[in-house]
Parts: sequence; C-alpha cells; structure tokens
Amino acid sequence: MVGSETHHWALWLLIFGSFAKASAAVTGGGFESCDFQTVYNFGDSNSDTGGISAAFTEIQPPNGETFFGNHSGRFCDGRLIIDFIAEYLGLPYLSAYLNSIGTDFRHGANFATGGSSIRPPGYSPFHLGVQISQFVQFKSRTTDLYHKVSNHRNGGEFISKLPRPSDFSKALYTFDIGQNDLAYGFQHTNEEKVLKSIPDILDQFSIAINTLYSEGARAFWVHNTGPIGCLPYSVISQSKKGNLDQNGCVRSQNEVAQEFNRQLKDRASQLRTQYPDAAFTYVDLYKAKYAIISARKQLGFHDPMKFCCGSYYGYHIECGKKAVVNGTVYGNPCPDPEKRISWDGIHYSEAANLHVAAHILNGTLSDPPIPLRYACHK
Ligand SMILES: *[C@@H]1O[C@H](CO)[C@@H](O)[C@H](O)[C@H]1NC(C)=O
Ligand SMILES: *[C@@H]1O[C@H](CO)[C@@H](O)[C@H](O)[C@H]1NC(C)=O
Ligand SMILES: *[C@@H]1O[C@H](CO)[C@@H](O)[C@H](O)[C@H]1NC(C)=O
Repeated sequence: MVGSETHHWALWLLIFGSFAKASAAVTGGGFESCDFQTVYNFGDSNSDTGGISAAFTEIQPPNGETFFGNHSGRFCDGRLIIDFIAEYLGLPYLSAYLNSIGTDFRHGANFATGGSSIRPPGYSPFHLGVQISQFVQFKSRTTDLYHKVSNHRNGGEFISKLPRPSDFSKALYTFDIGQNDLAYGFQHTNEEKVLKSIPDILDQFSIAINTLYSEGARAFWVHNTGPIGCLPYSVISQSKKGNLDQNGCVRSQNEVAQEFNRQLKDRASQLRTQYPDAAFTYVDLYKAKYAIISARKQLGFHDPMKFCCGSYYGYHIECGKKAVVNGTVYGNPCPDPEKRISWDGIHYSEAANLHVAAHILNGTLSDPPIPLRYACHK
C-alpha cells in the first residue's frame, strides 16, 4: 500500500497547490474563507457514512478495509467524497444522524442513507423529505439541549459533542442525491417516463431547499448526479447492443442523467434569484466521474467495468458476503482496490473518490467556479 499512499499524497499536493492559486485569485476579488465549522449532508449511499448501516444491518468488511481497517458504515473500501470534503475543511468525518453509538455532532451531521432518493417511492424509507425533517428535529432538539446543558455545571463533556446553535446559519449544506430516483425509475418504469418525472423530482428538491432556507441555511453545495450508465451494474443489467458508448457506458441512461443535471442547474439559478442572500454552488460531479472513466489508462486504473468486491457475473454475491460454489470461492475482494474505479459494481472506490474530490474542491467544475472553502459567497 506504500505506492498508493504516495499516490494519495501526490493528489493532495495537487489539491492544495491549485487551491493556493485559486484562493489567491479569489481573495484578490475580496473573498474571505467562509470558515465552515459545521457541515450538514443529505444524500444516498454515495455519501452515507453510517446511516443505513445503523438503521438496518451492518455493512460488512471488506468494505472499509483500505482506510478504516474494518467496516465503517460506508459502501466503499475507504473514504467517500464527503470524507474528503471534511478533511479539506479540517473537520472530523461526519457522524450519521441515525447512528446512536459513538457519534459526535459538534461539526455537523450526515443525513444521507444508502438507497435514498429525492422523491418516494424508492429503495430506502429515508427519502430527502424525511432527511430534511430529521434535520429540522435535530436542529431544534440539539438547540434546546445545548441551552439546558450549558446552564448545567457538569455539562462540559456532553456539550462538546453538540453543534453550537449559532453555527446552523453559517454551516455548509451539501447534497448528493438523485441517482436512485433515476435507478428506481429505470427499474420500475422506463427511460421515457423517468425523463418526464424530472421536473417533479426537482420540485421536491426545491421544497427541501425552501425548508432549509427557512431554518437559516445560506450556503448550499449541490453535486449533480453521476453517469449512472457507467456503473458496472447498469451495464450488466442494461447492455442492449448498440446502446453502449465508446467507454462501454449505457448511453441512454447517461442521457437521462445529463437531462436531470441540466434541469438541476436551472433550479440552482432559479433558487439564486429566489434567495439572493443565499449561495448555491452547482458542482458537475458527472464530468469528474466520467473523466476518470475516459482517462482511466493515463490515470493508471483498470477496466472501469471490472470491480473489486462482490460478483454480478455467473454467481451473484454482494460485497461483504462469501460463498463456495463448485469449489470456487466467491466474494473475495481484489488485491488492488487502488487501481479500480468501481468498488462493488455500484459504488466508487476510495481511489476514484479521491480523484473526483481533487477535481471538485477547487471549484473548477462548479457554477459559480469558486473553491469549496469560499462556497458561502454569491
Ligand atoms: C483543480 O484541480 C484539478 C485536479 O488537481 C486540476 O487539474 C485543475 O487544474 C485545478 N484547477 C484550478 C483552477 O486550480
Ligand atoms: C471488525 O469489527 C468487528 C465488530 O463489528 C470485530 O468483531 C472485528 O474483530 C473487527 N475486525 C478487525 C480486523 O478489527
Ligand atoms: C455448479 O455446478 C453445477 C453442476 O455442474 C452447475 O449446474 C452450476 O451451474 C455450477 N454453478 C456455478 C456457479 O458455476
């Protein structure tokens, strides 16, 4: 793993190196770092740091093996993009709101859960509307508790794990959700119906933003949806002849994702008009993810349609389980997750997440194009 560590450090240098340049330009324009002390995240498995695992059954190793050394509530061998966001801001990794053990909410909370969609029905009961009402409850209960505990002589240790009430309006609110609205739609209806449903899905998204805004949120960082047609799982279940692009991705599914993103970007500008005192950053995660797939050779990644853990070919087994069939053991992870783009056929590897994070944190793929650290500025 020494090689991969070096690789990671090289990428971090790139981020901070280019960040220094970008920040010089931005501070030249009169911006100051937003000094985000808290992050509230809403999303699906792409940013779940333990929610679905705490709510239902624990995600098993080899998930987590690359970085955490054991399962960590994430569908990944290591860190997710939201973990790299926390590192970049100098904050601890976000505790999942649904996790009742060992949590620390001083620097925010994560409402993302695996399978979540913006609009019900979906794969998870915790759709975005539920995540938002969990946030509203989290805010009012932690605020009450903070005031009670701060008047209490022995409250010190307990209060250190609560967010400061005054930080809610200065927090960064991040979103990575929508992929399951598309996936669930593809599975239960068809691409045409999914296309038609996009305005309604985004109406639900706007309602979520309205609620957060009325709770005092002002800085929003919104990831668009990734190239769903490039997930090995989509390719396996959908590879009609002639429907694959030059990188082996399901073209029609990616077109739906791009249409979703066009309309999401429009929503972001509508929201900017509606709430001139709030900052909305739209982040082109699609582009960052697709770029890894198309530039895999230069970047040293293997075939993007091969993944490290679990199997969908021949014998089907989920990552985290093992089986012996006809003398063959299924379910062992690959020895080189740092060279894989996909970890388990649906979720990206830590190596891929790091690469995507390196390309989005400095603002190059954002509208407006400002680094995450300045995402409170309009
Ligand atoms: C942002 O980071 C990426 C990846 O390190 C780099 O290729 C790009 O040039 C950077 N852009 C800016 C404006 O610093
Ligand atoms: C991983 O965690 C489980 C408990 O969930 C524990 O039994 C096991 O020993 C841990 N494995 C390692 C390698 O630490
Ligand atoms: C296991 O062997 C049986 C009998 O030869 C065969 O029908 C089956 O497909 C094999 N299963 C796998 C996963 O190879």
